[in-house]
Amino acid sequence: MRKILIAPSLLASNFLKLEVEVKRMVEGKADFLHYDIMDGHFVPNLSFGIPVVQAITSAFRIVHDVHLMISNPSEYFEAFAKAGANIITFHFEAAKDVKTIKSWIKQIHKLGVKAGISIKPKTKVEVLKPLLGMVDLILVMSVEPGFGGQTFMPSAIAKIKWLRHQLDAGHLHTLLEVDGGINLETSKRCIDAGVDILVAGSYLFNQVNVVKAIQDLKHE
Ligand code: DX5
Ligand code: ZN
Repeated sequence: MRKILIAPSLLASNFLKLEVEVKRMVEGKADFLHYDIMDGHFVPNLSFGIPVVQAITSAFRIVHDVHLMISNPSEYFEAFAKAGANIITFHFEAAKDVKTIKSWIKQIHKLGVKAGISIKPKTKVEVLKPLLGMVDLILVMSVEPGFGGQTFMPSAIAKIKWLRHQLDAGHLHTLLEVDGGINLETSKRCIDAGVDILVAGSYLFNQVNVVKAIQDLKHE
Protein backbone atom coordinates (compact mmCIF):
# COMPACT_ATOMS: atom_id res chain seq x y z
CA MET A 1 0.00 0.00 0.00
CA ARG A 2 1.58 3.31 -1.15
CA LYS A 3 1.88 6.00 1.55
CA ILE A 4 -0.15 9.04 0.47
CA LEU A 5 1.31 12.46 1.33
CA ILE A 6 -0.64 15.74 1.63
CA ALA A 7 0.83 19.13 0.64
CA PRO A 8 -1.34 22.16 1.49
CA SER A 9 -0.85 24.97 -1.04
CA LEU A 10 -0.18 28.19 0.87
CA LEU A 11 -1.56 30.22 -2.04
CA ALA A 12 -5.03 29.55 -0.55
CA SER A 13 -4.11 30.74 2.94
CA ASN A 14 -5.29 33.99 4.56
CA PHE A 15 -2.09 36.02 4.20
CA LEU A 16 -3.20 38.39 6.93
CA LYS A 17 -2.59 35.56 9.44
CA LEU A 18 -0.06 33.39 7.65
CA GLU A 19 1.63 31.97 10.79
CA VAL A 20 -1.72 30.79 12.20
CA GLU A 21 -2.67 29.28 8.85
CA VAL A 22 0.63 27.39 8.50
CA LYS A 23 0.37 26.18 12.09
CA ARG A 24 -3.13 24.84 11.36
CA MET A 25 -1.74 22.72 8.51
CA VAL A 26 1.37 21.53 10.35
CA GLU A 27 -0.64 20.60 13.46
CA GLY A 28 -3.20 19.06 11.10
CA LYS A 29 -0.48 16.53 10.16
CA ALA A 30 0.30 17.84 6.68
CA ASP A 31 3.35 16.07 5.21
CA PHE A 32 4.67 18.92 3.03
CA LEU A 33 4.05 22.68 2.61
CA HIS A 34 3.57 23.67 -1.05
CA TYR A 35 4.77 27.13 -2.17
CA ASP A 36 3.42 28.50 -5.47
CA ILE A 37 5.94 30.97 -6.87
CA MET A 38 4.53 32.97 -9.81
CA ASP A 39 6.30 35.69 -11.83
CA GLY A 40 3.44 37.23 -13.82
CA HIS A 41 5.22 36.05 -17.00
CA PHE A 42 5.31 32.25 -17.10
CA VAL A 43 1.82 32.41 -15.61
CA PRO A 44 -0.61 35.41 -15.65
CA ASN A 45 -0.41 35.97 -11.89
CA LEU A 46 2.00 37.19 -9.20
CA SER A 47 2.14 35.37 -5.82
CA PHE A 48 5.03 35.60 -3.31
CA GLY A 49 8.79 35.01 -3.17
CA ILE A 50 11.90 34.22 -1.18
CA PRO A 51 11.25 36.34 1.97
CA VAL A 52 7.96 34.50 2.60
CA VAL A 53 9.55 31.08 2.02
CA GLN A 54 12.48 32.04 4.29
CA ALA A 55 10.15 33.20 7.08
CA ILE A 56 8.17 29.94 7.09
CA THR A 57 11.09 27.51 6.69
CA SER A 58 12.90 29.14 9.61
CA ALA A 59 9.89 28.58 11.87
CA PHE A 60 8.42 25.20 10.80
CA ARG A 61 10.08 21.75 10.55
CA ILE A 62 8.33 20.03 7.62
CA VAL A 63 9.18 19.29 3.97
CA HIS A 64 9.17 22.59 2.03
CA ASP A 65 8.01 21.92 -1.55
CA VAL A 66 8.67 24.90 -3.84
CA HIS A 67 6.74 25.01 -7.16
CA LEU A 68 8.39 27.49 -9.53
CA MET A 69 5.99 28.86 -12.16
CA ILE A 70 8.59 31.32 -13.47
CA SER A 71 10.28 31.79 -16.84
CA ASN A 72 13.93 31.79 -15.70
CA PRO A 73 13.94 29.28 -12.81
CA SER A 74 17.66 28.50 -12.83
CA GLU A 75 18.45 32.08 -11.78
CA TYR A 76 16.65 31.42 -8.47
CA PHE A 77 17.61 27.85 -7.54
CA GLU A 78 20.38 28.97 -5.16
CA ALA A 79 18.24 31.63 -3.48
CA PHE A 80 15.38 29.17 -2.81
CA ALA A 81 17.82 26.52 -1.59
CA LYS A 82 19.29 29.09 0.81
CA ALA A 83 15.73 30.06 1.86
CA GLY A 84 15.18 26.48 3.06
CA ALA A 85 13.50 24.70 0.13
CA ASN A 86 13.79 20.88 0.37
CA ILE A 87 12.34 20.29 -3.10
CA ILE A 88 12.60 22.72 -6.02
CA THR A 89 10.25 21.99 -8.94
CA PHE A 90 10.51 23.86 -12.23
CA HIS A 91 8.36 23.58 -15.36
CA PHE A 92 9.36 21.55 -18.42
CA GLU A 93 7.89 24.37 -20.56
CA ALA A 94 10.32 26.93 -19.07
CA ALA A 95 13.32 25.23 -20.71
CA LYS A 96 14.27 25.41 -24.38
CA ASP A 97 15.50 21.79 -24.56
CA VAL A 98 16.16 18.55 -22.64
CA LYS A 99 19.88 19.38 -22.40
CA THR A 100 19.00 22.54 -20.46
CA ILE A 101 16.63 20.57 -18.20
CA LYS A 102 19.34 18.03 -17.37
CA SER A 103 21.75 20.83 -16.43
CA TRP A 104 19.06 22.42 -14.21
CA ILE A 105 18.49 19.12 -12.40
CA LYS A 106 22.25 18.83 -11.80
CA GLN A 107 22.33 22.45 -10.57
CA ILE A 108 19.60 21.78 -8.00
CA HIS A 109 21.24 18.56 -6.79
CA LYS A 110 24.56 20.39 -6.37
CA LEU A 111 22.73 22.66 -3.90
CA GLY A 112 21.83 19.56 -1.84
CA VAL A 113 18.14 19.90 -2.67
CA LYS A 114 15.72 17.48 -4.37
CA ALA A 115 14.73 18.30 -7.97
CA GLY A 116 11.24 18.14 -9.40
CA ILE A 117 9.81 18.76 -12.86
CA SER A 118 6.26 19.78 -13.71
CA ILE A 119 4.15 19.62 -16.88
CA LYS A 120 1.16 21.79 -17.80
CA PRO A 121 -2.13 20.17 -18.91
CA LYS A 122 -1.39 20.70 -22.64
CA THR A 123 2.08 19.10 -22.45
CA LYS A 124 2.28 15.44 -23.45
CA VAL A 125 3.47 13.22 -20.58
CA GLU A 126 5.80 11.25 -22.87
CA VAL A 127 8.23 14.22 -22.98
CA LEU A 128 9.31 13.19 -19.48
CA LYS A 129 10.52 9.72 -20.52
CA PRO A 130 14.26 10.68 -20.84
CA LEU A 131 14.15 12.35 -17.41
CA LEU A 132 12.33 9.78 -15.28
CA GLY A 133 15.43 8.41 -13.50
CA MET A 134 17.00 11.85 -12.98
CA VAL A 135 14.37 13.70 -10.95
CA ASP A 136 13.13 13.08 -7.40
CA LEU A 137 9.60 14.29 -8.09
CA ILE A 138 7.22 14.70 -11.04
CA LEU A 139 4.37 17.17 -10.72
CA VAL A 140 1.35 16.70 -12.99
CA MET A 141 -0.72 19.89 -13.23
CA SER A 142 -4.44 19.12 -13.18
CA VAL A 143 -5.32 22.78 -13.81
CA GLU A 144 -3.77 25.44 -16.03
CA PRO A 145 -1.15 26.88 -13.62
CA GLY A 146 -1.61 30.41 -12.28
CA PHE A 147 -4.60 30.35 -9.93
CA GLY A 148 -6.10 28.39 -7.04
CA GLY A 149 -9.77 27.38 -6.84
CA GLN A 150 -9.99 26.00 -10.40
CA THR A 151 -11.78 22.79 -11.49
CA PHE A 152 -9.80 19.54 -11.79
CA MET A 153 -9.01 18.48 -15.39
CA PRO A 154 -9.67 14.68 -15.81
CA SER A 155 -6.93 14.49 -18.47
CA ALA A 156 -4.44 14.36 -15.59
CA ILE A 157 -5.57 10.82 -14.66
CA ALA A 158 -4.19 9.18 -17.82
CA LYS A 159 -0.86 10.98 -17.31
CA ILE A 160 -0.62 9.75 -13.70
CA LYS A 161 -1.42 6.19 -14.81
CA TRP A 162 1.25 6.32 -17.57
CA LEU A 163 3.89 7.71 -15.19
CA ARG A 164 3.03 5.21 -12.45
CA HIS A 165 3.47 2.38 -14.96
CA GLN A 166 6.79 3.77 -16.22
CA LEU A 167 8.14 4.31 -12.68
CA ASP A 168 7.12 0.86 -11.44
CA ALA A 169 8.46 -0.83 -14.59
CA GLY A 170 11.78 0.99 -14.07
CA HIS A 171 11.83 0.32 -10.31
CA LEU A 172 12.16 4.07 -9.83
CA HIS A 173 11.30 5.76 -6.51
CA THR A 174 10.50 9.13 -8.07
CA LEU A 175 7.56 10.71 -6.19
CA LEU A 176 4.42 11.43 -8.25
CA GLU A 177 2.56 14.64 -7.30
CA VAL A 178 -0.69 16.15 -8.62
CA ASP A 179 -1.76 19.77 -8.23
CA GLY A 180 -4.98 21.67 -8.93
CA GLY A 181 -8.65 21.13 -8.04
CA ILE A 182 -7.94 18.41 -5.49
CA ASN A 183 -10.86 17.56 -3.21
CA LEU A 184 -12.41 14.41 -1.71
CA GLU A 185 -13.62 13.09 -5.08
CA THR A 186 -10.66 13.99 -7.27
CA SER A 187 -8.10 12.85 -4.65
CA LYS A 188 -9.59 9.32 -4.73
CA ARG A 189 -9.29 9.16 -8.53
CA CYS A 190 -5.66 10.33 -8.39
CA ILE A 191 -4.76 7.84 -5.64
CA ASP A 192 -6.35 4.99 -7.64
CA ALA A 193 -4.31 6.14 -10.68
CA GLY A 194 -1.06 5.89 -8.68
CA VAL A 195 -0.19 9.29 -7.21
CA ASP A 196 1.98 9.72 -4.07
CA ILE A 197 1.45 13.40 -3.19
CA LEU A 198 -1.77 15.47 -3.32
CA VAL A 199 -1.44 19.27 -3.36
CA ALA A 200 -4.58 20.93 -2.03
CA GLY A 201 -5.26 24.64 -1.60
CA SER A 202 -8.84 25.89 -1.46
CA TYR A 203 -10.19 22.50 -0.29
CA LEU A 204 -7.95 22.42 2.82
CA PHE A 205 -7.83 26.09 3.81
CA ASN A 206 -11.65 26.28 3.76
CA GLN A 207 -11.86 23.49 6.36
CA VAL A 208 -12.54 23.96 10.09
CA ASN A 209 -11.34 20.46 11.06
CA VAL A 210 -8.01 20.25 9.19
CA VAL A 211 -6.88 17.01 10.89
CA LYS A 212 -9.99 15.22 9.59
CA ALA A 213 -9.80 16.87 6.15
CA ILE A 214 -6.17 15.80 5.66
CA GLN A 215 -6.97 12.27 6.85
CA ASP A 216 -10.01 12.07 4.57
CA LEU A 217 -7.98 13.17 1.51
CA LYS A 218 -5.72 10.13 2.02
CA HIS A 219 -8.66 7.68 1.72
CA GLU A 220 -6.76 5.21 3.94
C1 DX5 B 1 -1.90 26.61 -9.31
C2 DX5 B 1 -1.04 26.13 -8.17
C3 DX5 B 1 -1.77 25.20 -7.22
C4 DX5 B 1 -3.01 25.81 -6.59
C5 DX5 B 1 -3.84 24.73 -5.95
O1 DX5 B 1 -1.11 27.15 -10.30
O2 DX5 B 1 0.11 25.47 -8.66
O3 DX5 B 1 -0.87 24.75 -6.21
O4 DX5 B 1 -2.66 26.78 -5.67
O5 DX5 B 1 -5.02 25.28 -5.44
P1 DX5 B 1 -6.41 24.49 -5.50
O6 DX5 B 1 -6.24 23.23 -4.67
O7 DX5 B 1 -7.37 25.46 -4.87
O8 DX5 B 1 -6.71 24.17 -6.92
ZN1 ZN C 1 1.38 24.43 -7.12
